[in-house]
Amino acid sequence: MFASASLSLLLSAAWGFSLVSAAVVPHDIHDHAPTRTSLPSRWYHEDDHPAHKLFKRGQPGDGVTYASVGSPEWSAPYPQSTPNPSALPQVWVDALNAAVAAGTIPNIPPSTLNNGNPVYPNGLDALSDQVCSSYSKCNKDPNVVWNAPDGVFGIGFDDGPQPASDALYTFLQQNNERATHFFIGVNIIGNPNQFNTAFQTLGDDIAVHTWTHPYMTTLSNLDVLGQLGWTVQLIHNSTGGRLPRYWRPPYGDSDKRVAAIAKEVFGMTTIVWNQDTEDWSIPSGGTTNQAVQAQMTKWFTGPKSPGLIILEHELYNQTVQAFINAYPLVKANGWKTASVATIASSDGATYQNAKDSTSSVTSVVGILPSAASANSSTSSTAASNPSSSPASSGSSATSTPPPSTPSGEAGAGTALQQTNGATSPLGVPSSMLIAGSLALLSTAVALW
Ligand SMILES: *[C@@H]1O[C@H](CO)[C@@H](O)[C@H](O)[C@H]1NC(C)=O
Ligand SMILES: *[C@@H]1O[C@H](CO)[C@@H](O)[C@H](O)[C@H]1NC(C)=O
Ligand SMILES: *[C@@H]1O[C@H](CO)[C@@H](O)[C@H](O)[C@H]1NC(C)=O
Ligand SMILES: [Zn+2]
Repeated sequence: MFASASLSLLLSAAWGFSLVSAAVVPHDIHDHAPTRTSLPSRWYHEDDHPAHKLFKRGQPGDGVTYASVGSPEWSAPYPQSTPNPSALPQVWVDALNAAVAAGTIPNIPPSTLNNGNPVYPNGLDALSDQVCSSYSKCNKDPNVVWNAPDGVFGIGFDDGPQPASDALYTFLQQNNERATHFFIGVNIIGNPNQFNTAFQTLGDDIAVHTWTHPYMTTLSNLDVLGQLGWTVQLIHNSTGGRLPRYWRPPYGDSDKRVAAIAKEVFGMTTIVWNQDTEDWSIPSGGTTNQAVQAQMTKWFTGPKSPGLIILEHELYNQTVQAFINAYPLVKANGWKTASVATIASSDGATYQNAKDSTSSVTSVVGILPSAASANSSTSSTAASNPSSSPASSGSSATSTPPPSTPSGEAGAGTALQQTNGATSPLGVPSSMLIAGSLALLSTAVALW
């Protein structure tokens, strides 16, 4: 059904020509993963999901040439750093305004950072039902996933793609493990080869970790929209038109307003975590590999209820190595493993047995407690009933141990420095994208 971004297009093609030129080459990405029998997963929305209206893309043969991932014309249309809230595609803004008018986006004021902690104005309690800040470990929003099903270790990594991702991907492939990659938009721009490996070679799951890794609750609705929307757009434009179903807030910093924008506008469910090693701080001395291993040992040899979602990073050699070092314990202690986006799917099934790209897929339902009663038809609505999600109903929020220190999630500051030399925002009006201005193209390429 999907055609991936063609890898064979000439780098000299520009948007002005691409919009009217050669037909796209239908191409199934799963052909690239012959040694793994795990696709397709369900990290992306069905074709008829309403969010597709915000990211228009034609069927194969629509006459549009899609720039190849990593080419200058692929990266040119995107903000260079913090998205300009007054230069967002109008269709996103209209969708946000419609959701606000419909009363589905809570009117919570943005927080401000105080010594690195988001604080709400007027004494508003971060743990109140109204706000329900995930940074403050409120776990009562059914739109937010904290736990894996009992006995399951949901594998995922934040802050990629990075040069350090290469060693992780080799290890995952050698061990036939699948993972969810919570990618940062500007890091995809900076590391397209690693992106392609994760998506095309591994066939792994892609999720959103925002465009530039801010504290999301400090942002206005429009800034939240830009941070999510551009990352979704880039993933969509780089995966043959797929739209991610999950996102993870940097620092774990979300609340009912931010989670609702993700859900109501883009159809994305929030995935946080229930354990954190603070692996990202190994290089800076905040923790040590020994301490990380001690924690992992405790969890992997400990109780299996709820299942584990551990905050881990594909950020540095040391964070990748921490996962590799702990991995034997996962197997030795009988944990079922799955990509966290796959187990969080609201249809309640783990899809893993497509023989090839045209064979039908076997839905493996045993992994989830409520899988038998799930109904996949719910996935076609943007605001599908969150209480039907196995991830929230199967591991009830009230039995959740408080996640440890969401505030520890960090490290992207370094990530951004690698890919993002200049600091001024490059706002790109959608009208200019449509015009496919060559002047814009060359300017943007020069800035990257
Ligand atoms: C995404 O791809 C479409 C089709 O090529 C193109 O029209 C659009 O400008 C792209 N958007 C971005 C932001 O790259
Ligand atoms: C990290 O670096 C060490 C020392 O160079 C090396 O032995 C190890 O294989 C590296 N680990 C990864 C995951 O790249
Ligand atoms: C799923 O829901 C649809 C629409 O409500 C219904 O027609 C179908 O029978 C349901 N399937 C199952 C397995 O419950
Ligand atoms: Zn992060």
